[in-house]
Amino acid sequence: MKSAFDLSLKEMKSYGYKIVDLIAEHYNTIETKKPVSTASREKMDAVFLQEAPENPMPANEVLDFVMQNVIPNSNIASHPKSYSFVPGPSNYISTLADTLATGFNIFSGGWVGSAAAAELEIVTMNWLLKMFDFPVKKGGGLFTSGGSMANLTALVTARRIKCGDDFSKAIIYMSDQAHSSNIKAIRVLGFKKEQIRILPTDLEFKISLNKLKNAIAKDRLEDLQPFCFIASAGTTNTGTVDPLCDIADICEEENLWFHVDGAYGGAAILSSKGKKMLKGIERADSLTVDPHKWFYQPYEIGCLLVKNSEWLSDTFSEKPEYLRDIEGNESEINFYDYGIQLTRRFRALKFYMSIKTYGLNTFKEAVSYNITLAERTEKMLRKSKKWEIISPATLAVINFRYNPIGYHLNEAELDILNQEISKRIVASSEALLVTTVLNGQVVLRMCLINPKTTIEDIKDTLGLCNDFGKKILEERKLVN
Ligand SMILES: Cc1ncc(COP(=O)(O)O)c(C=O)c1O
Repeated sequence: MKSAFDLSLKEMKSYGYKIVDLIAEHYNTIETKKPVSTASREKMDAVFLQEAPENPMPANEVLDFVMQNVIPNSNIASHPKSYSFVPGPSNYISTLADTLATGFNIFSGGWVGSAAAAELEIVTMNWLLKMFDFPVKKGGGLFTSGGSMANLTALVTARRIKCGDDFSKAIIYMSDQAHSSNIKAIRVLGFKKEQIRILPTDLEFKISLNKLKNAIAKDRLEDLQPFCFIASAGTTNTGTVDPLCDIADICEEENLWFHVDGAYGGAAILSSKGKKMLKGIERADSLTVDPHKWFYQPYEIGCLLVKNSEWLSDTFSEKPEYLRDIEGNESEINFYDYGIQLTRRFRALKFYMSIKTYGLNTFKEAVSYNITLAERTEKMLRKSKKWEIISPATLAVINFRYNPIGYHLNEAELDILNQEISKRIVASSEALLVTTVLNGQVVLRMCLINPKTTIEDIKDTLGLCNDFGKKILEERKLVN
């Protein structure tokens, strides 16, 4: 029977072809577009705010409206001049793989929903476990919506395995550079503020081992239960990797769960330089990686890997009567037993299809290219009389500020100047380049994980920043 939602075959095809054409055209012309779009709430309300329409409207009209109003009012996270936050370079194969997964609406929660979907998640997990030198047989993991959900899943598991039901005395440690999603996860888990130790970092933004050891010792003296350390590999601000081998030693000695948040930097394992920097990551109990960042996947796909897959099933497995018939046998993994979600979209498909299509070497070359691009940018900035490096190129992140020689600007003036440069470049829509704060200084931060970004793009953007900087200095009469 035809339902009211059905379209004729002809209508479905023409609608689908139109959308594929739009996506392909977007990929083909991305460099000619501007990465930034800004609009006020008032403007967006004026365009979109309406009651849910009771009556139908032709599909093409709705699509045209979306193409005219939704897409142009969204930033292009995969644009080569989108340098801020952690960009989402994405790739075309995975984009369409996601369309396939959605098109066939494949349930990726349990084996019985789709044996192939579960098997592809097992296979792709094995690829990732091997990449990070985790035990493939005993280890395990699952895809999540992103890094935040992977960190949350890791911390639920850590707490279950280390503390059981009573976590009233449990203490968790991380550096002041750890990503905010970890704090969010800890809060979701119901820990009190007093159970979190945020430890200061050194001049390179790495956790201070001495401070960590002191904190653990003090907490033990107070009869508390140190149970988990969250290391960053690398940090969102500067790409810094905490000293993973030393932390692994401390966690072993102190019987702490060792979680590594590699949501940003984990993918660097694909390059020889990154592999060296990430030494010790293989000793983690749990590891977050985030394929929708530097594994070039479209949103949403995060991932959690653990040393022992039983930790996940011990933590998340529930056996309600309505899932009795789909339990399957021991070897047939139901991923709803490994994490929070029951109904899950088929995230493994895009990861699988893109790695099969492009080959792992293409990913390795792209990650190496990104790391080298950041290093070239650093060299270029160091040679300039206008720019100052605040944090050197590390895993494709670099922080710098406009501080032209001869102007003798004080810290407050430099903060205003760099904030204003960022404001103007974003307002121009030419590049997404926002600031962060390092050691109290306002700095410009580039995260260069897009394989389409060239050194020419960066020169262009810096040239523009330079022009804005000069103008601001003139306007504010800071020129001496
Ligand atoms: C180090 C780190 N951890 C976690 C996250 C959160 O990941 P997501 O935004 O995918 O939830 C991010 C995001 O930038 C990150 O950089």
